[in-house]
Amino acid sequence: MSGEIALAVIGGTGVYRLAALQDVETHEVDTRFGAPSGPVRIGRLGERRVAFLARHGEGHSVPPHRINYRANLAALKQLGAARVLALNTVGGITERFGPRVLACPDQIIDYTWGRIPTICEEPGEEVLHVDFGDPYTPRLRGDVLAAAAAVGADVVDGGCYGATQGPRLETRAEIARMRRDGCDLVGMTGMPEAALARELGLDYACLAIVANWAAGCGDGLEITMPEVLANVEAASAALPELIGALAHG
Ligand code: HPA
Repeated sequence: MSGEIALAVIGGTGVYRLAALQDVETHEVDTRFGAPSGPVRIGRLGERRVAFLARHGEGHSVPPHRINYRANLAALKQLGAARVLALNTVGGITERFGPRVLACPDQIIDYTWGRIPTICEEPGEEVLHVDFGDPYTPRLRGDVLAAAAAVGADVVDGGCYGATQGPRLETRAEIARMRRDGCDLVGMTGMPEAALARELGLDYACLAIVANWAAGCGDGLEITMPEVLANVEAASAALPELIGALAHG
């Protein structure tokens, strides 16, 4: 199957494939930034071509600070993608963002460090100061929310994603500070991915999947990986239809 890619999806923790993709082709892509986290799978959802890449690798072997965010996005762009839906597994900080909630945040605060934050750090390359006031592409956010409404999926409109370094989870004091800063969600992979997408000229929006209450929030219980994965699986039930509607929208 050929033709343009209607949508590229980057899967996060717990989302390693899109089972609904038909006639899947596998692309091992090399980029000027190196190799992406794994192969890009391109297949058909209805009448549209959709690309999928597992951010941490299909076996979840690449930790957040080691992900080659630049190569991942460049690979999707090289294959012809112009719109990227980032699925990010997150913890919920504020009341509206409890476990199993889907959210489409509209702001970011970046607490990560030591990651390559730009595509233009090579000598001689022009430095870009891209506008990032709205870190997610407003039009694509609108399309995500419209797709969710069309398939009857509840998605919270807005919220601030705080990107932390990981791979450990946060202390209660760190989350309390993030709450004071205005963060609603906490995850480890939202940055620099969003900024790199903007530099690369890709439309980019995040669909955050709340896996647990962040440290000291909600029930205040210890966070365990089985709980995280079970909540991601439950919250992901709406994803195939939502992604299908987004690809066709
Ligand atoms: N913190 C950071 N990242 C996460 C969390 C969390 O509580 N849950 C899932 N990803």
